[in-house]
Amino acid sequence: MKIIKVATPEEGAIKAAEIVLNQIKHKPASVLGLPTGGTPVGMYAKIAEAVKAKKADLSKITTFNLDEYYGLPKQDAQSYYTFMDVNLYTPCALRPDQTHIPSGTAPDAEAEVKAYEVAIVKAGGIDLQVLGIGGNGHIGFNEPGTDPKSRTHVVKLTQNTREANARFFNSLEEVPTEAMTMGIQTILSSKSILMLAFGANKADILFEALKGPITPQNPASFLQRHPDVTVIADQAAVTRL
Ligand code: PGA
Repeated sequence: MKIIKVATPEEGAIKAAEIVLNQIKHKPASVLGLPTGGTPVGMYAKIAEAVKAKKADLSKITTFNLDEYYGLPKQDAQSYYTFMDVNLYTPCALRPDQTHIPSGTAPDAEAEVKAYEVAIVKAGGIDLQVLGIGGNGHIGFNEPGTDPKSRTHVVKLTQNTREANARFFNSLEEVPTEAMTMGIQTILSSKSILMLAFGANKADILFEALKGPITPQNPASFLQRHPDVTVIADQAAVTRL
């Protein structure tokens, strides 16, 4: 595991965008796994800047997002589809056929998650999976206790996660109670993984994920089993490392 320590989230965003853009340069038809949340916003902005300056060509990539709330239509302001559209798809002019996110309104959730997993395999698997880490160690929406063998599945969100995400909604009640997420095994099947962690609220969980025991209680700890993981963390997040 390679740990890149940066001074600020801004510096982390530049470094993360550099790694993603290098991946695309090296393999223009890369399959990328992508996260949402506060952490990757700066990285997406840097990628969009590079595309606008014609320093990067994203026309051949395929993307698969980690997760989506179940019950939110894609046009909802808080759906992860909308987040990706605002932060990446529209700024980088990605075509709809390049991007994938589980549908939060699929009538048959089980069929949706199965089809999502099949689509990833059909695309050739994920070359580079970018991740954030939740305050409880979740990666995607794989909450503590998730089976490490899990593939894309439907999950019940923990209170901790709903509270952490309530800042994006008008109230905690509006935060969906369920989501669809790539499983831990889906994530570990990626050829390479880039995890970003910024802020003091990630310091303890990041330390435990990287240096503590591998346990379902901290889903990010399973990354220790992957041969090609890079972590970019800012000063505030590495105080215990
Ligand atoms: P955050 O979320 O980027 O909003 O901190 C990270 C995560 O839950 O994966």
